Amino acid sequence: MVVRVFESPEQVSTACAMLFASQVISNPRAVLGLATGSSPIGTYQQLINWYNEDILDFSEATSFNLDEYVGIPESNECSYHCFMQNQLFHGINLKASYLPDGNSKDMRGACRNYDKAIKKAGGIDLQLLGIGRNGHIGFNEPSDAFSFGTQVVTLTPSTIDANRRFFDEHEEVPSMAISMGVGTIMASRRVVMIAMGDDKQDAVYGAVKGPVTPHLPASILQMHQDCILLCDRKAAAQL
Ligand code: F6R
Repeated sequence: MVVRVFESPEQVSTACAMLFASQVISNPRAVLGLATGSSPIGTYQQLINWYNEDILDFSEATSFNLDEYVGIPESNECSYHCFMQNQLFHGINLKASYLPDGNSKDMRGACRNYDKAIKKAGGIDLQLLGIGRNGHIGFNEPSDAFSFGTQVVTLTPSTIDANRRFFDEHEEVPSMAISMGVGTIMASRRVVMIAMGDDKQDAVYGAVKGPVTPHLPASILQMHQDCILLCDRKAAAQL
């Protein structure tokens, strides 16, 4: 894993956006793996800016998101469908964009279909990841074994707690999600993980310097042949 440390979160976002820009410029038909949460927001804003300045064109590119909550309508402001629409999709011209279906009556079928769709698109060229405070990637939580394909997952109390900030006080934070598996993430041709802030320093240390273990899912990225971690000084404090 290549590690680059920047002074500020803004610099992390710009560096990450540059990787996505060069991917789309060198291969307009790129298949992009996208993430939600706070970490990618600056990256998405920069991509929108470059699109508005006619520097980037996404009209032949496709995207697949990592995850979605189970059981909240896509129209709910807190769904990842809504998040992606508001933070990125409204501002660029992707040919097609997909997220896992968190409301299917047949969740196993929904998982299989998502994996099939990624495969049909030719696999992911560049996958963006944030990292959870517990080292999760996508919503693959710490466990005794690495997951393979898309699956329904039960979120840990620490993840539910971290996600609470996106929900209204009276709203219940979902406890289940549908997430791309670690196997699919590892099959991406290139991975860029971004981490900002003090609360990521333990997870970043474990991902980079700890043993490769499903108890800290991001540690598997040490085995990826083309993975870059972009982080700010705070997240890198223990490296
Ligand atoms: C989001 C996702 C999660 C987040 C992680 C970090 O699609 O898959 O793994 O990347 O929870 O979230 P933030 O960036 O909000 O700290």
